[in-house]
Amino acid sequence: MNTRVSESVIIVGAGVIGLSLAWLLARAGRPVVVFDKAEAGQGASHAAAGMLAACTELEPGEEWLLSLNRRSQQLWPTFAAELESASGIAVDLREEGTLHVALNADEQGKLRHHLALQEKADLPVEWLSPAEVRAREPFLANATGAIWSPQDHQVDNRKLAAALRVAAPRAGAVVHEHTPVDKIVVADGRITGIEAGGAFHPASVVVLAAGAWSRSIGGLTQETRPPVRPVKGQMLALSMPADAPLLRHVVWAAGIYLVPRVDGRLIVGATAEERGFDGSITAGGVLSLLQNAWRALPGIEELPLIETWTGFRPGSRDDAPILGEGPVEGLVYATGHHRNGILQTPVTADIVSRLILEGARDPLAEPYAFGRFK
Ligand code: FAD
Ligand code: GLY
Repeated sequence: MNTRVSESVIIVGAGVIGLSLAWLLARAGRPVVVFDKAEAGQGASHAAAGMLAACTELEPGEEWLLSLNRRSQQLWPTFAAELESASGIAVDLREEGTLHVALNADEQGKLRHHLALQEKADLPVEWLSPAEVRAREPFLANATGAIWSPQDHQVDNRKLAAALRVAAPRAGAVVHEHTPVDKIVVADGRITGIEAGGAFHPASVVVLAAGAWSRSIGGLTQETRPPVRPVKGQMLALSMPADAPLLRHVVWAAGIYLVPRVDGRLIVGATAEERGFDGSITAGGVLSLLQNAWRALPGIEELPLIETWTGFRPGSRDDAPILGEGPVEGLVYATGHHRNGILQTPVTADIVSRLILEGARDPLAEPYAFGRFK
């Protein structure tokens, strides 16, 4: 990148992607200003389940995402420790691992196929017998077996966003909430700044990190607009006694995942719907989440239902993130993280901050360049 150290960076969007980048840039001494149309951290970053599930979430045809996802898994422990120290807020990185359970022969057949895909990709996974599943999670319904992913952990994504909201300004970043960026301004083929709150704000670099809203920011053209759409997810939370939780690991079963939090909340997710920015909670959505959760963990029947919500995953055309430079000098992309943006937060912040600070183009980021959509 062709920028000077003293030149300021503007970040559009204060989700975990925008805030983590702001934190690393500010920590390195770079002037950085973040704008969000609402309160920071209340988009998909608030809605997520916080799974760091590179192995469990592998889908056929998405093997090319593994290098990025596995690098981010490696970065997570240090990233979490540094963030906790910088913010004074615990982000609850839990390292119990993930179980993907089968509850009948059909599901077992399907899981065995999934295991073969994971093993072919050389991932650290193993098959567990019913007794081994029971030993780890005694309250699960009778499982016929499970895939054990000992390196797929979880973090409390709401605490993550809160910690970044503290750490970024402490390092020197300025965060403007309730201030939508109306327009990204380009002159003579390069970025000059943005318009927000009725004023022009100059910058040599503008980072587009507006999650599912990234394609709708003013000033983007057909040439520069990222192909990102909202993928709606409905979720709910049940309340377990914190001192006697029904689950300790993250558990996947047909149609759902279950994520137990330190405070006793049990997150149940999620639907994946192509409905634009429709934020409604539907009977069908809640029904399928509860039915599938109850089938895997019958003890939930007694638990209070304490929250339902929706969120919008930023899904790109190929469901992979868009990272780095595009066709306009100074416009940088950090968007399209779809189902894995919490997992990919450390690696995105690392790759994009080094690009802006040092002009370093990490080969790992090459497959995720904007140019692949041409
Ligand atoms: P967001 O958090 O959505 O932030 C974008 C921000 O941009 C918002 O705050 C918004 O207000 C702001 N903005 C929009 N327009 C403007 C504008 N004009 N001006 C200024 N600001 C603007 N990922 C995982 O890794 N693990 C999971 O377990 C997981 N579970 C998920 C479950 C659900 C139901 C959902 C919806 C997502 C899940 N994800 C998960 C995905 C993850 O949440 C996202 O990939 C990640 O949060 C994207 O972060 P972001 O900062 O890009 O977007
Ligand atoms: N990664 C889980 C989800 O997007 O629902």
